[in-house]
Amino acid sequence: MFHTNEIKDKSFLITGGAGFIGSNLVDYLIMNGARKVRVLDNMSNGFMVNVEPYLSLPAYEFIDGDITDMLTCAKAMEGIDMVSHQAALGSVPRSIAHPDLTHASNVNGFLNMLIAARDAGVQRIVYASSSSVYGDITDSPKVEHRTGRLLSPYAVSKMTNELYAGVFSLNYGMKIIGLRYFNVYGQRQDPSGPYAAVIPLFMDAVLNNKEAWINGDGEQTRDFTHVSNAVQANVRAMFTDNPEAFGRVYNVAVGESITVNQLFDEVASIAGKQMKPHHRADRPGDVRSSLADISLARKYLGYEPQVRIREGLRKTYDWFKSTY
Ligand SMILES: NC(=O)c1ccc[n+]([C@@H]2O[C@H](COP(=O)([O-])OP(=O)(O)OC[C@H]3O[C@@H](n4cnc5c(N)ncnc54)[C@H](O)[C@@H]3O)[C@@H](O)[C@H]2O)c1
Repeated sequence: MFHTNEIKDKSFLITGGAGFIGSNLVDYLIMNGARKVRVLDNMSNGFMVNVEPYLSLPAYEFIDGDITDMLTCAKAMEGIDMVSHQAALGSVPRSIAHPDLTHASNVNGFLNMLIAARDAGVQRIVYASSSSVYGDITDSPKVEHRTGRLLSPYAVSKMTNELYAGVFSLNYGMKIIGLRYFNVYGQRQDPSGPYAAVIPLFMDAVLNNKEAWINGDGEQTRDFTHVSNAVQANVRAMFTDNPEAFGRVYNVAVGESITVNQLFDEVASIAGKQMKPHHRADRPGDVRSSLADISLARKYLGYEPQVRIREGLRKTYDWFKSTY
């Protein structure tokens, strides 16, 4: 548990709070007695069921609105101490299919949030970046200051966020921290639709005896990060008082990677199923290997991942089993 006492005095705005990572962060803040938790979400990929238990709580507020609308952002910022900005259109393939939509939410919406925070005097903003900003660099592990050629409009949108965050910190003295998430998974990650991520798809396959598909040979590696670790990073970033921590971006991961083939075997073994996945063509924009160096987040934020892959998959499986 992190910063449980400080949470009580504060008002939070969580954009994208009806989505996967945002709603897990809302859980943590509400559980720890936050004075106010306001969610701003346009429900394009969020689910009311994720935040339904809180609707009757006086500390909880929900705004059904879009971050591409400046007035909505300004209104959402009123009376807020801290912002965790999670709203965005995720998925590399979606961005390749619809670069304009990705740009609107992820870049224009992000800039609106920064301007609204600046104008409202909200000093502390934590935002979701992504490991996609490493592009085609082959370094392993990946360190924050070395990035490669970007491979998708999604990666461009997240890199643009980092550039804007840097100049807003510099010019307006705002305390902004970016978190480069590496393949986050866990409860409430949506297994449906064309842009579903691999772990919920595998969970759905083993629980419902569906075919499981792996893009390419399955030897690509990922640093899969349980959502509780992402929540921890957000909370630590919102409450750090280390002046050196601001204006930076941090890898948020476990610092261990496995192949997608190993991932499937692990999920099938947890489920007690003897299943073989099918393979299909590589997906454009996908990187071959992804492993994070997390020493910067350790040093400046005191971040330490608590849940590693086996325990995280077990928790995730239990949740999917009880829900689907
Ligand atoms: N899940 C991952 O592995 C991962 C990895 C790297 C980065 N990220 C980033 O983390 C953040 C959260 O991702 P997630 O996995 O929880 O995704 P998600 O799709 O579950 O949540 C995003 C939420 O933002 C909302 N949203 C989208 N566009 C909006 C808009 N224009 N206005 C208001 N609300 C809007 C959606 O309705 C959704 O509820 C995103 O910024 C994503 O790009 C996620």
